[in-house]
Amino acid sequence: MQECELIQVKNLSKTFTVPGGFTQRSYIEAVKDVTFSLQPGETVAIIGESASGKSTVGKIILGLVKPSSGEVIYRGQPIHSLKGNGMRAYRKAVQAVFQDPHSSLNPKMRIEDIIIEPLRNFGYRGDCRRRLSYLLEVVGLSGEFAARFPHQCSGGQKQRVAIARALAAEPEAIVLDEPLSALDMTIQTQIIALLKSLQAEHGISYLLITHDLRAVKAMADRVVVMYKGRVVEKAGKEEFFRCPAHPHSRALLEAIPVIGGLQQCKVII
Ligand SMILES: Nc1ncnc2c1ncn2[C@@H]1O[C@H](COP(=O)(O)OP(=O)(O)O)[C@@H](O)[C@H]1O
Ligand SMILES: [Mg+2]
Repeated sequence: MQECELIQVKNLSKTFTVPGGFTQRSYIEAVKDVTFSLQPGETVAIIGESASGKSTVGKIILGLVKPSSGEVIYRGQPIHSLKGNGMRAYRKAVQAVFQDPHSSLNPKMRIEDIIIEPLRNFGYRGDCRRRLSYLLEVVGLSGEFAARFPHQCSGGQKQRVAIARALAAEPEAIVLDEPLSALDMTIQTQIIALLKSLQAEHGISYLLITHDLRAVKAMADRVVVMYKGRVVEKAGKEEFFRCPAHPHSRALLEAIPVIGGLQQCKVII
């Protein structure tokens, strides 16, 4: 049913034109005919090897890259048709947390300003200082972090700041593009727990772009597998780990011994 879909991605394609030599140029078909949806409160993981088009899909959803064809539909409305307040509402509703918190946080801004900025941008009417304290607390940082600069925080703390900044907009969905890759294992586990508890409390949807199958196992409801720009498999998480249908999905799972124990199942040819 259309009403219950928060975001629908329909037949999305993106071809990048890369300037070559004197008169040459080449084309990269980064995303080809990608279709899937994200429901309120669920986590869809997009997985696939490097350069399979995952981040480009995320950037198109965030409005950072324009698709060559196809569309992103937010609550029944194509985002390219949104203007003014509609576009502002969409930008507020869909936030992002990227892989490298170091480059995604402005090094010249204090943590408090990084978190208060979206409150101002989206016209928060309450008390910004109180909201700042609340957001720091929610992501597990003490009040003393407010006055720090990003370089005075560890990688995990910076990723918590990036999450607080995303939450400041009270989003309906967050695109998480490799949010754990820059962090060590213990911190990854803590951030996964934080993201899950925020989802349980606020009903946020996540689009989890990752090649980390441990995170997929811990967080996802559904899995979309991309290979060379195309979706090659869509499955519920349990089904995906129990019996991946596409040879490329099997290859992804078999490459990660920690997941291990692929059960015997029919290979669909
Ligand atoms: N701005 C860009 N200009 C040209 N090529 C790009 C651009 N962004 C991504 N690509 C290319 O598109 C393909 C898919 O990239 P990406 O979506 O980043 O994949 P993934 O996130 O799965 O690693 C890659 O071949 C990449 O080099
Ligand atoms: Mg990527």
